[in-house]
Amino acid sequence: MLKKNMLFTPGPTMVPPEVNLAEAAPMIHHRTPQFSQIFMDVTEGMKALFETKEADVFILASSGTGAMETSVVNLLSPGDKALFISVGKFGERWGELLKAYGCQGVELKAEYGRVISAKEVADALAKHPDAKALFTTQSETSTGVVSDIEGYAALTRKTGTLLVVDTVSSLGVHPLRFDAWGVDVAVTGSQKGCMLPPGLGFIAVAPRVWKAVEQSKLPKYYFSLPAMKKAIADKTTAYTPAITLIRAAKVALDMLMAEGLENVYARHAMLAEASRAGVKALGLKLFTKEGESNVLTAVEAPEGIKIDAVIKRMRDEFGITLTGGQGSMKGRIFRLGHMGYVNQFDILAALGALEKALSDAGYPVKPGSALAAAQEVFLKSKS
Ligand SMILES: Cc1ncc(COP(=O)(O)O)c(C=O)c1O
Repeated sequence: MLKKNMLFTPGPTMVPPEVNLAEAAPMIHHRTPQFSQIFMDVTEGMKALFETKEADVFILASSGTGAMETSVVNLLSPGDKALFISVGKFGERWGELLKAYGCQGVELKAEYGRVISAKEVADALAKHPDAKALFTTQSETSTGVVSDIEGYAALTRKTGTLLVVDTVSSLGVHPLRFDAWGVDVAVTGSQKGCMLPPGLGFIAVAPRVWKAVEQSKLPKYYFSLPAMKKAIADKTTAYTPAITLIRAAKVALDMLMAEGLENVYARHAMLAEASRAGVKALGLKLFTKEGESNVLTAVEAPEGIKIDAVIKRMRDEFGITLTGGQGSMKGRIFRLGHMGYVNQFDILAALGALEKALSDAGYPVKPGSALAAAQEVFLKSKS
């Protein structure tokens, strides 16, 4: 088979050719007006993506986890209590970070495939009024759920607990109305909805958060927010920035802004609806029990089918890469990512490949059933 490589993974995601080309341009020096202009354009572009006018936004040379770590080490002091919501592997990472830095993490846990309601958060905030922060994940990439950040923010705004949101897989997919909802800190990475390769982290910090930053006593050096704030006043970074990726980010952000943020969100909602309709038409069950995310579709592996072998074949023979489950979900689910540089016809290719691979593996498939269900969604859409 002629193999064409396409990524439907929950990150990294496909990168537009225009963005790849920007990475190929000859190197420039970062202490120049030329780079400062691009750096400030990208900072402003990221502010637009975070939907904030009031927050400071910083660009880090790290993956998303570096941005998560930046939030922890700049807000807290040793022994501080913080709540964290864990509905999958990435929520659990907040707990690991808190532990690594000697903070007292209080876990709000839901079984995989479910979310924590705003009511449960309200109860936890009432029970732990001394918690300095609430760490959460907008789209939990390991299970495919999206959390009610607006609902959580309505509560933390009242209690003054700092709300820190991991938007690594959701920024540019689901709206994150940073200013309007009253989020305190949001972090993300470049390799998902931002349509970039991995390697950049971003953090948005609301003005009211700086008081906590001043009081924080956890050790930090490379990820110091005060150092970043000082440097950006001179339109630069404290250390050598990832020049190539930042130039690529300018192109990707221009593309997102040209499409229009609300259209970008609507596209992802449509791709998710079509993907869910497609897998259901094959008789498969969604793993996500509530709060289905537009980032990816998490699906239970059909009985008697070795799903990891199906995924491997799709990747190695067809060039279509989906992913399996993480941790205890390995072998039990597969995940079809549809974030970033993805359109309707890409989804039809992915579902077509899935039909073929499942059928060859012995799963009964009515040819075209997933495709027809997805196409129904696309035909009724205006875009
Ligand atoms: C929701 C979420 N949080 C955090 C991360 C970690 O980001 P990174 O792998 O860029 O460090 C990921 C990446 O897969 C993610 O999807």
